[in-house]
Amino acid sequence: MAILNIKKAGDPVLKETCAEIDFVDGKLRKLLDDMAETMYKADGVGLAAPQVGVPIRMVVIDVNDEHGLIEMVNPVIIRREGSEIDNEGCLSVPEIFGNVERAAKVTVEYQNRRGKRQRLTAKGLLARCIQHELDHLEGTLFIDIAKSIRKGRSDSK
Ligand code: NI
Repeated sequence: MAILNIKKAGDPVLKETCAEIDFVDGKLRKLLDDMAETMYKADGVGLAAPQVGVPIRMVVIDVNDEHGLIEMVNPVIIRREGSEIDNEGCLSVPEIFGNVERAAKVTVEYQNRRGKRQRLTAKGLLARCIQHELDHLEGTLFIDIAKSIRKGRSDSK
């Protein structure tokens, strides 16, 4: 595995609409491994492929709950409920935090690394993280949609 360079806001790759993945081959499985290692090394709770310079629809998430590491290929949110405003950060936007309105509960469909279809319903931090990471696949950063932004140091995703 390898630690990858995390692209920072201002890099055009972070503004791209990412491409659908046809088939998860060995090269993409290695990228998933490297993304997870990079996320853990950076103390993040989520990382999307464009953040390491690859504009494809793949994210890794681990919010330190019972799910452990979640790898999502071609994720799509199929249901949103409620709304909640909370603090967010991003490994691509260091030392900036902001309040972002998100759905309180989401159901997401995706494929795992073996191409098997999965469905997950989440609330709280995991729901927030899923929405944040999926925004990356559309070229949207949390600072583009935050209600307020501040400088500081805290958790990031
Ligand atoms: Ni982010």
